[in-house]
Amino acid sequence: MLSWDEFDKEDGEVAAKGTTPAQAAAAATLDKLDSAGGAAALEARAATASDSDAVKRAKAALDALDVAEGLAELEGSSARVAVDEKRMINCRADLNQLVPFKYDWAWQKYLDGCANHWMPQEVNMTADIALWKSMDGLTEDERRIVMRNLGFFSTADSLVANNLALAVYRLITNPECRQYILRQAFEEAIHTHAYQYCIESLGMDEGEIFNMYHEIPSVAKKAAWGLKYTRAISDPEFNTGTVETDKELLRNLIAYYCVLEGIFFYCGFTQILSMGRRNKMTGVAEQFQYILRDESMHLNFGIDVINQIKIENPHLWDAAMKEEATQMILQGTQLEIEYARDTMPRGVLGMNAAMMEDYLKFIANRRLTQIGLKEEYPGTTNPFPWMSEIMDLKKEKNFFETRVIEYQTGGALSWD
Ligand SMILES: [Fe+2]
Ligand SMILES: [Fe+2]
Repeated sequence: MLSWDEFDKEDGEVAAKGTTPAQAAAAATLDKLDSAGGAAALEARAATASDSDAVKRAKAALDALDVAEGLAELEGSSARVAVDEKRMINCRADLNQLVPFKYDWAWQKYLDGCANHWMPQEVNMTADIALWKSMDGLTEDERRIVMRNLGFFSTADSLVANNLALAVYRLITNPECRQYILRQAFEEAIHTHAYQYCIESLGMDEGEIFNMYHEIPSVAKKAAWGLKYTRAISDPEFNTGTVETDKELLRNLIAYYCVLEGIFFYCGFTQILSMGRRNKMTGVAEQFQYILRDESMHLNFGIDVINQIKIENPHLWDAAMKEEATQMILQGTQLEIEYARDTMPRGVLGMNAAMMEDYLKFIANRRLTQIGLKEEYPGTTNPFPWMSEIMDLKKEKNFFETRVIEYQTGGALSWD
């Protein structure tokens, strides 16, 4: 192992011994640690007569531990991090050093997400159970809406969580954004839990609901569309760093944040929340209302990440990529329109598939402009202004302030 003295010599001498600069820096860090507390550690690790064989083996293993090798393998350099070095993708700075923050908005969203914490069991499902089980409580069309949406969402949030944990997290090279992604991943777990809780409370056939994304075409198509983008970047060998691979990550972020979480959730959210406004399935609707508020935060985080990547890598956002992003959002809108028709063969709950189509086009326009693209459905208006009321970002702060109090007292949200 290199000593501290050797590390002080010229780089050339270190390199001549076949050691990389990162290994040399790691060894130097270790030697500094050794000189500060090494003697005490060695003393504590010395064999004693009372040591069992197992304890002796543990101590011997630590004697053989090559900490220099471990430190050299840590991502990035071993130096203290400066804000200017931080980047959304392909960053070389140490990713384990959370501060100094570069993207304050990401940290703020992490704090807001935590302040918004909730659990499915807090919601009272008694009225829903009675209504679901009564013979004439809901119409067939209303029951279809509840079933289809629990079917779609019970697996959709797993797809989002898997995409984050198995694909995106590794490739976003910024610790404050990773901190939010970890929070988001936990929220997706809470959402899956919420759907499971609804399904169990209502005594539904679990297999039928959870396998719907394989069995019902309008649900399956949306899932398959998203999975295609996870597949592209979840290979452990996949890495960003070239124009093509950086664009692949960007495609994934647009697919999940703008389309899955930004369009695919909106027909279902609107239907279930409309049910709640009519005093039906109020427990399920309350769960969806909490989920929607988490989701609007996920969406806004994703939009900020996408736009930041564009700012830092303007060459990625060329005409071809803009055209591709537009096409992805239009495809997603079309799939969601088909889902609206499948879930609403007739008018129900004061809405119908044509109104939903207008709403989805309105949403699509917003997604396009949020990432700097032009509207593709000009002149579309929002037929469900009460949805904006629920999600209005200007009210987000108020919501969180209110929510914390409600969370502490276990109170329920009221419907307008
Ligand atoms: Fe979710
Ligand atoms: Fe989400």
